[in-house]
Amino acid sequence: MAHDLALGERRMEATPDTRRHCITVCTTCRDPETRERPGADLIETLNAALAENGLAHVSVEGAACMAGCSRPCTVAYQAEGKASYLFGDIEPARDVATLVAFARQYAELEDGWCSSLQRPEGLKGKTLARMPALPAFAPGVPGRRDGA
Ligand code: FES
Repeated sequence: MAHDLALGERRMEATPDTRRHCITVCTTCRDPETRERPGADLIETLNAALAENGLAHVSVEGAACMAGCSRPCTVAYQAEGKASYLFGDIEPARDVATLVAFARQYAELEDGWCSSLQRPEGLKGKTLARMPALPAFAPGVPGRRDGA
């Protein structure tokens, strides 16, 4: 079922999105207190939680370090044609529901773009990066999208 999403100036119609969506979890971040690496367990827990919430189409991958080492554990969201995000200070024991909530929100956003106020409360202050989608290639026209 399609439904409208009001996103400030960006109002759009959400439709089923067949693009690949991926959450990447750092597998080398260490818990600051226990010094353990929770990434592998978080991948497993997230996969189960996504499936339970009808988001099995969102894949979860691991990556060894995403350059957010001072803010462990880091988690990224990426999809073709969408803004990408890197979050830090993720607490695997506490933040799975928040990560799933953002996965749902992200999947429903046409361009993936949203402000910190629109993201789940549990991600407040944890955004390390938000990068716009890679512009479509416009041959011979530097800096122009879709040849427009
Ligand atoms: S070790 Fe996890 S971001 Fe570097």
